[in-house]
Amino acid sequence: MLKHFSTKLFIDGGDPEETKTAVQMLSVAGYAGPDGQTTNPSLVAKNPDIADRVARGDKLSSAELWREYRKIVEQMSATVPGDISVEVYADENTQAEEMVEQARECVKWAEGVVIKLPIINEGLKAAQILKAEARLNMTLCFSQEQVAAVYGATIGSKYPVYVSPFIGRLDDIGLNGIDIIANIMRMLSGGDGHVHVLAASLRGLQHVLQVLELKAQAMTLPFEKAFKPWAESGFLATRDDSGLDLLGERIDYISLDLQKKWDEFDIHHELTDKGLKKFAEDWNGLLL
Ligand code: G3P
Repeated sequence: MLKHFSTKLFIDGGDPEETKTAVQMLSVAGYAGPDGQTTNPSLVAKNPDIADRVARGDKLSSAELWREYRKIVEQMSATVPGDISVEVYADENTQAEEMVEQARECVKWAEGVVIKLPIINEGLKAAQILKAEARLNMTLCFSQEQVAAVYGATIGSKYPVYVSPFIGRLDDIGLNGIDIIANIMRMLSGGDGHVHVLAASLRGLQHVLQVLELKAQAMTLPFEKAFKPWAESGFLATRDDSGLDLLGERIDYISLDLQKKWDEFDIHHELTDKGLKKFAEDWNGLLL
């Protein structure tokens, strides 16, 4: 009987071969999983076949790129039957209706498709429409306010809604990124349970162990940076020494009213803007 972790485990990447390897490594160690996969435009751009084509100077039409993305997701879904997060294309000008239209196509790709939407105004408006029909993963999350807005916009959703806080990118700006997970978990413990934390942008073993310790509902691991070091540790579940290093300035908890209307929260964050721009650039960089 294969063992499970209490936190759902996803692989963060654009290469179905990595997903297969992760399944093998877990099963050799006596564990089930992974429970699914997360992707995004930058990760799709790094898919070996796509990256090779682009390196040869061969760019893709938009229809072709969506077909390639679909193929990648279908292969992943054949390996891991669980949730597969697929991100819609969005830049600062993309309207909610356009995201909804893309989402309705992407959910046809595989049974477990979870639609990833950015936590910007239009993304939240799209979530309000899609919450009745699709699984959602609200991404590029860097603040508690953004989670409170996701909570409000998706009340009554048909499925639990993931929110993806990016720990490593908060570390990058000198903060102790893991604090955002602890703060969000604390805030959501006062809610109705429809929003689940999917810890993302994990950069190593320390992040993995911290997320497990906080009992987040899910985490997504880039294969090289986080999954492999964790596998090499023998899939440790806790650290047995004096605790985990503080990586940067602490992020304070703020008390927010989850019953407030979602559009009353200040959801702006510079890292969300930067992340959105980079995803769009990486995607557009593949196009003719
Ligand atoms: O799932 C989010 C992730 O892909 C971002 O990771 O390392 O680019 O911050 P990173």
